[in-house]
Amino acid sequence: MLILGIESSCDETAASVVKDCTETLSSVIASQAAEHGLYGGVVPELASRRHCENILAVVQQALADAHVTVEDLDGIAVTHTPGLIGALLVGVNFAKGLAMAADKPLIPVHHLTGHIAANYLAHPQLKPPYLCLVVSGGHTLLCEVKSHTEYEIIGTTRDDAAGECFDKCARVLGYPYPGGVHIDRAAQQGDSTKYVLPRPKVAGSELDCSFSGLKTAVINMVHHAEQKGETIDTASMAASLQHTVSEILAEKTLLAAKQTGYTTIAMAGGVSANSGLRSAMEKMCRKHGYTLYMPPLSLCGDNAAMIACQGSYNYLAGVRADESLNAYASSKLSIAAAKGTAIL
Ligand code: KG4
Ligand code: ZN
Repeated sequence: MLILGIESSCDETAASVVKDCTETLSSVIASQAAEHGLYGGVVPELASRRHCENILAVVQQALADAHVTVEDLDGIAVTHTPGLIGALLVGVNFAKGLAMAADKPLIPVHHLTGHIAANYLAHPQLKPPYLCLVVSGGHTLLCEVKSHTEYEIIGTTRDDAAGECFDKCARVLGYPYPGGVHIDRAAQQGDSTKYVLPRPKVAGSELDCSFSGLKTAVINMVHHAEQKGETIDTASMAASLQHTVSEILAEKTLLAAKQTGYTTIAMAGGVSANSGLRSAMEKMCRKHGYTLYMPPLSLCGDNAAMIACQGSYNYLAGVRADESLNAYASSKLSIAAAKGTAIL
């Protein structure tokens, strides 16, 4: 079974061919990050234009690298939610056109389920059910992965995502966009005990978290220091922030594991590349005897291999879309969304 995956939800135009769910035959990524970096963040209109310019060449390259033609494919999978609407529409419309022209099944994929599926590419022995911590630029959630296509969210952020918190703090500390990786690098040189940062409590669900108070605390500390003419030790602030975010996420995951009884835990999304979070999760899992799966760094960020992988499982589960498939900027990760009917 050969599935072509197409991803264009943010600032990466990507295409990949995956064989039999987990064997990556090709993975092409055209990143726009450097260009958006000039503006300090993703410029949606620019992202859409670049996707339009790049998508044909990226898909052709993915097919060529895999030594397959469109005729060889069993299906065409595409990210249809969530993300920047203009950016998503480029991938969705390209996939629709290709599927119709080649008379191939069109398979919708929820971007976050793709991030989760990145683990199957690296660890084919990982099988549902398990608990997954999903941490990306726009989302932070804990979910039960009940099958390859069924999920239940059991905790989420009440406000900012962890990636958003890293990126906004990085910006105020003077690091370029996207800032998460710069926080990670700077943190290696800093003292994580130098600045004491708040660990916001969330009323209601114990498994929910909140990062906006933490972000505001960092921004305020930097501004107050500037006003007083003091200099912030940016490496130590980065280390303190990374330590606090990592501890919060590892604690919430532990609580979720205890409540649900899962002993297999996975991580997914761009922030799962963070070295502090990886070691906090490793430490927690070692201590409690849990088995931890993390995507390799190359599969943490946006790519199309993860979309082709999840697309393969959706295909096997009978998930199909027709030419009425639309893109949705935001949608809940739900069984319905994974099956192609996005709930807004
Ligand atoms: O999953 P992703 O590539 O895109 C979304 O689906 O949102 O995640 C991007 C996020 C950004 O916030 C980026 O700063 C963060 O992942 N990120 C990191 C690291 N690498 C990427 N955050 C902390 N440490 C890293 N090493
Ligand atoms: Zn992503």
